[in-house]
Order: sequence, then C-alpha cells, then structure tokens
Amino acid sequence: MIGHQAKKLEELVSASSKNQKKKSKKTRFIAVTSGKGGVGKSTISSNLAYALSQKGLNVGIFDADIGLANLDVMFNVKIKKNILHVLKGEASVSDILIPITRNLILIPGESGDEILKYSDMALFERFMEDAQVLDKLDVMIIDTGAGIGEHIQMFLNAADDVIVVTVPDPAAITDAYATIKTIALLRDDVSMIMNQVKSEKEAVAVFDKIKKVANANIAGSLNLQLMGKINEDVKVSSSVKKRALFCSEYPNSQPARDIELIVGKITSKLERNVLVTSNDSGLSGLFKRLMQHF
Ligand SMILES: Nc1ncnc2c1ncn2[C@@H]1O[C@H](COP(=O)(O)OP(=O)(O)O)[C@@H](O)[C@H]1O
Ligand SMILES: [Mg+2]
Repeated sequence: MIGHQAKKLEELVSASSKNQKKKSKKTRFIAVTSGKGGVGKSTISSNLAYALSQKGLNVGIFDADIGLANLDVMFNVKIKKNILHVLKGEASVSDILIPITRNLILIPGESGDEILKYSDMALFERFMEDAQVLDKLDVMIIDTGAGIGEHIQMFLNAADDVIVVTVPDPAAITDAYATIKTIALLRDDVSMIMNQVKSEKEAVAVFDKIKKVANANIAGSLNLQLMGKINEDVKVSSSVKKRALFCSEYPNSQPARDIELIVGKITSKLERNVLVTSNDSGLSGLFKRLMQHF
C-alpha cells in the first residue's frame, strides 16, 4: 500500500514538473516546534514571518498546529476557509490564502482534529493540483504543534531548518530536550530559540546546559545550535492580547531587536537568486519532500 502510494505521488510530482516551464525560487522551509505548549511558537512564528517580509522577502506562514491553530488570532484576521476545506475539495489553495501584508500570506490551519482523517493520498493530490500559487515564496514558516506526533515528524523531516522553542523553566527545558532527542533520530541539524529570557547570558547558559546533556546522551552527529533568544517583555504579551505583532507595535523594543538578529541569521542562509523548477518551491516543494518519507 505504502509502495503504491509512493509511486502514485512520484507520478503526480513528475507530471506537475513537466507542466512547469517557468522557473521559480527555492523556498526555504522553517519548522517551529516545541516540547511543551505555550512557550511562544506562534508568537515567534508570526513576528518572524512579519519581520522577514519587511525585508522584502516573499513569506508564507502555515498554521500546522493541528488542534490549536490560532495564527488568525495572532494576525487579527478572519478566516472563512482553511486547509481542511482544501482537503475536502471545497476550496482551492488560493481560496484560503489570507494576505497579511503585500508579501506575507497566511495559510490557515484547522483547529480540530478532523483534518487527521484526510492525511492520505487525497491530501497530496489536491495540493499538487493548485499549490503552485505559492511557488514565489522565499521562506515558508511552519508553526507546528508541541510534542512529536506523526504528522509533526513529517514537517520536521522536510524542513530546511527546525527551530525548537523553549522557555527557561525546568519543565519546559526537560520537554525541549525530549523533543530534541526525538528530532535527532530524524535529522542532525537542530536550532533553538530561548524565549522569555532575561538576558543573552541566561539564554546561552540554558542552551549550554541542554547542549551538554544532548552531547553526552544522544548518539550520532547532532548539530545543536542556538539561533537566538527573545527577552521576556510585557510588550510581547500585551501585543498578543491586542492581536497585534510586537515587531510592528514596538519595533525598537528588545524583543523586536531579538527577532531582527534571528532574521539576519535566516536571510544569510537563503540561497539568493537560485532558480529551481517550481516543483522545488512553495507547497509543491514541501509536499515533494514529504513524499520522500513515505
Ligand atoms: N517573550 C515573551 N515575553 C512575554 N510573554 C510572552 C513572550 N513570548 C510568549 N509570551 C506569552 O506566551 C503566550 C503563549 O505564546 P504562544 O505563542 O501562543 O505559544 P505556543 O504557540 O507555543 O503555544 C503568549 O500569548 C504571550 O502572552
Ligand atoms: Mg501556538
């Protein structure tokens, strides 16, 4: 069955690549995940996506936190249809996209678990048909759920960067470590963002502790990197309450400067002017990669 599905997907991908005459950019996929919920994944994903788009990049943000999809709240937009409607054949990908700024689009997720019923071939078929709308993206941020369910693993596998967010409290650190241990079975490169810290010093100290335990206990060649930190700041929580982005409300605040540093690291990794077939970009590119793990 799995072999059959994989073959069918391959046919779909090659059929869509034959239809691709135009070249598009290679999209960098960045998955944001965590061990524990409520550590700031959606806050960071939305602000990071916004800050990247302010640099002139075409950015997509995919709400893939099944059960807790809430990026519509973060961006203060109303959603009528989401990815579930696409999977059911009730909408096309372009129907559900929500423009946030000129070069930032939200791909809304479903905040229920009905979507899990659709994680089969039909999902991939429908996406391959019209996902090319998203081929112009430079970056796609995927806000995944906490923990490490099967569907999250697919995203973590397919992404160029996996960012594990944690806060410095012991329970969150333990859960972050457990998540890193599981991700290490899938890939070597894992990044971390330390959220709600008091200083760079605290972020580095917590990271070093995790890295030390990881190096001592995780077999293989894990390359754990600190991508950055975000200071604890009431401007962040008050912005979330107001359904605003702290990077736009308080661009000179410490948390906004922290996001800027992370943006700098991401943009330096982007392969500028690399032209690939649109098969390797946007959602088609993501699903092509997901397919390789069937
Ligand atoms: N750097 C921060 N400073 C202050 N509060 C924060 C910070 N980051 C997150 N929060 C608070 O934590 C809450 C949960 O964040 P959220 O992004 O929804 O977490 P997750 O997506 O991981 O479940 C936010 O509503 C916000 O109030
Ligand atoms: Mg969230």
